[in-house]
Amino acid sequence: MNKKILVAPSLLSADFLTLKDEIRKIEDSGADMIHLDVMDGHFVPNITIGPLIVEAARRCTKMVLDVHLMIEDPHKFIKAFVEAGSDIITIHAEAYDGSRLPPASPGFPRDSQGSRQNNLTKGVSKKIDKLDEEKIKETLKQIKHFGKKTGISLNPDSPLCVDGILKDTDMILLMSVHPGFGGQGFIEGVLPKIKALRKIYSGDVEVDGGINDKNARLVIDAGANILVAGSYFFGAEDKKEAVRKLRII
Ligand code: DX5
Ligand code: ZN
Repeated sequence: MNKKILVAPSLLSADFLTLKDEIRKIEDSGADMIHLDVMDGHFVPNITIGPLIVEAARRCTKMVLDVHLMIEDPHKFIKAFVEAGSDIITIHAEAYDGSRLPPASPGFPRDSQGSRQNNLTKGVSKKIDKLDEEKIKETLKQIKHFGKKTGISLNPDSPLCVDGILKDTDMILLMSVHPGFGGQGFIEGVLPKIKALRKIYSGDVEVDGGINDKNARLVIDAGANILVAGSYFFGAEDKKEAVRKLRII
């Protein structure tokens, strides 16, 4: 598959005090879109930004805003993120786990006593058991209704359980770290999942977490065509060169 390789720097590693300048750096680097990580402290053990910052970013750039919702009940917030100026809205499959015990566990597995495991750790994220296809389709429709592109994301330990709804989404985002924090190490175990997905899906395949110039080739060879990079991009002296290196195949 010969798709153009797109690079999406993640604003999570930017200096929010000078957000406008950081966005200029992304524009000047030749990157293709801006990745914005929205976390609610429930789906993931961290809280980041909401529609307010997406809207501020929208006011200072015409670049594609690729909004990654790591939140519970994403359907409640689609309109707000559309109005803020998002172009692509990605929701997590794990937020639509049809086998979840009531009351809904906020993103983390339960231990044998049924209570939630400590979620203030890195290296853990929810794994989906059974995708509620009807519910997730409703949210995807909602996003499409506003004329925006859709993405479905899967955590590193979740199986490729989206085969029944591939035709309903423009993009699949495979996490290559447990979501919640920038600057973590790339999980190589996700490579077979990228390969398996590319065999059955011709849409956009985005990979997010720990991407740098050392592993970009592995990810692209496996079939991904959109690379998110946070700490690698903002840590690079020469950002044009950093983006160029990610695209090399
Ligand atoms: C992690 C976020 C990522 C993160 C990537 O939960 O979804 O987008 O910002 O940052 P790096 O590239 O530093 O892993
Ligand atoms: Zn992300």
